Amino acid sequence: MTRYIGALDLGTTSNRFILFDHQGQVVGTDQVEHEQIFPRPGWVEHDPMEIWQNTRRVIRGAMGKVGISGKDIVAIGITNQRETTVVWDKKTGQPYSNAIVWQCTRTDDICEALEEEGGQDRFRRTTGLPLATYFAGPKIKWILDNVAGVKAAADKGRALFGTIETWIIWQLTGGTAGGAHVSDVTNASRTLLMDLETLSWDEEILKVMGIPRQMLPRIVPSIDKNTWGHTLNEGPLGASVPVCGALGDQQAALVGQTCFGVGEAKNTYGTGCFMLLNTGTQPVQSAHGLLTTVGYQISGEKPVYCLEGSIAIAGALVQWLRDNLGLIRSAPEVETLARTVDDNGGAYIVPAFSGLFAPYWRSDARGVIVGLTRYVNKGHIARAVLEANAYQTLDIMEAMKKDSGVDLNNLKVDGGMVANELLMQFQADLLDVPVIRPAITETTALGAAYAAGLASGFWNSMADLKQYWSEDKTWTPQMDDGVRQAGIRSWKKAVQRTFDWER
Ligand code: G3P
Repeated sequence: MTRYIGALDLGTTSNRFILFDHQGQVVGTDQVEHEQIFPRPGWVEHDPMEIWQNTRRVIRGAMGKVGISGKDIVAIGITNQRETTVVWDKKTGQPYSNAIVWQCTRTDDICEALEEEGGQDRFRRTTGLPLATYFAGPKIKWILDNVAGVKAAADKGRALFGTIETWIIWQLTGGTAGGAHVSDVTNASRTLLMDLETLSWDEEILKVMGIPRQMLPRIVPSIDKNTWGHTLNEGPLGASVPVCGALGDQQAALVGQTCFGVGEAKNTYGTGCFMLLNTGTQPVQSAHGLLTTVGYQISGEKPVYCLEGSIAIAGALVQWLRDNLGLIRSAPEVETLARTVDDNGGAYIVPAFSGLFAPYWRSDARGVIVGLTRYVNKGHIARAVLEANAYQTLDIMEAMKKDSGVDLNNLKVDGGMVANELLMQFQADLLDVPVIRPAITETTALGAAYAAGLASGFWNSMADLKQYWSEDKTWTPQMDDGVRQAGIRSWKKAVQRTFDWER
């Protein structure tokens, strides 16, 4: 009987369930977008119940489309938007508020107050992260401080915290009737609360932030068959299927791209854009604005660490062009519009909608469009939108080189935007290295499937997985260096214009 691995990809804009066969090929998929809630400028929320409802829908949808039942699924793996914070009541299963999304800037004051002692890098040695609105810890503090009843419930052990994988695993494995309250180590490494070396919650930081220990999930390895439990027979899979893997989406893409060796890197162009470089079993502290984070951990083995360059707004800028400005009707149209002109006409967009993440970490930054003249038309704006992704990646690549001493001689890419040929060529031109797209660009879901498949014995070893990776296309640099350097100078000036807007 043919059997499958299921990957649940709980992203920022949509939830998907994808079924993979033994060759790592997609055999069935279903996807539903969820609402992006913007209650105030800079605030971003999701409805956790909508995410749970859509999770059930896509699981049933994907299985239904290809006529597969839960009994045909060996194991499931989960991957998720990281840092997004849910706090819920363990007796009723109801969230106390909407989830605070990773892009939300509402914790700016909390971070500023925490920085007063020890500065922005106060917790960096322990957690690998700077103090920034991006991470989950300050979001938990915000909910404790601002949502009625949560503090008292947390003190009594009734309020539970989870990032999205924790929330959905709790639901899938039992919910109010005793669901597993666990967080995979890669997601836990994004809270600003976990000690990178001991892989446990740091009591000192919890005390400083006023977060009760009992709210927090148990931290477990990413690839493990014994800790997450099984889905319920009466749940969306209709069978007791083991949950065998969970990884933050960027770490899942690293695994999906089979970057298992020290010095291997990938760049994923999704809602945001994230470059991860495998640095091996020792955490490398960044001196140039990158994050130190857990890449993955196989049960019983040492964790593998990464340096990460995080960009908050990538595909989200294309969405903004579509939804807020109405300049295009669908995301792929941005390329058609950009191709109506030869260059950006002097216009640069720095999409600091959530402040600027790596390598700047400026929550006071806000987006700018600069270089406007009457010459600039909507084609130039579309180009500037695409180029913003490439320039932000350049900033990250420069920091990566300085921190690691590794000169990346190519870049493996994935994510929705790698279908955009204009962007890929421009990226290669700007970085002056070849950009390589794999045949399977669904690397995030694939990484979650690999995790579950390795833990359950569906696949034997990481070395075996390497054989499924193959190249689809490579873009080689073609730009004149003078043109490249002039563009980079203008970009750096544009970035400076975003600072000091919000303080
Ligand atoms: O850290 C945020 C990240 O996990 C979101 O990923 O795929 O929605 O850009 P994505």
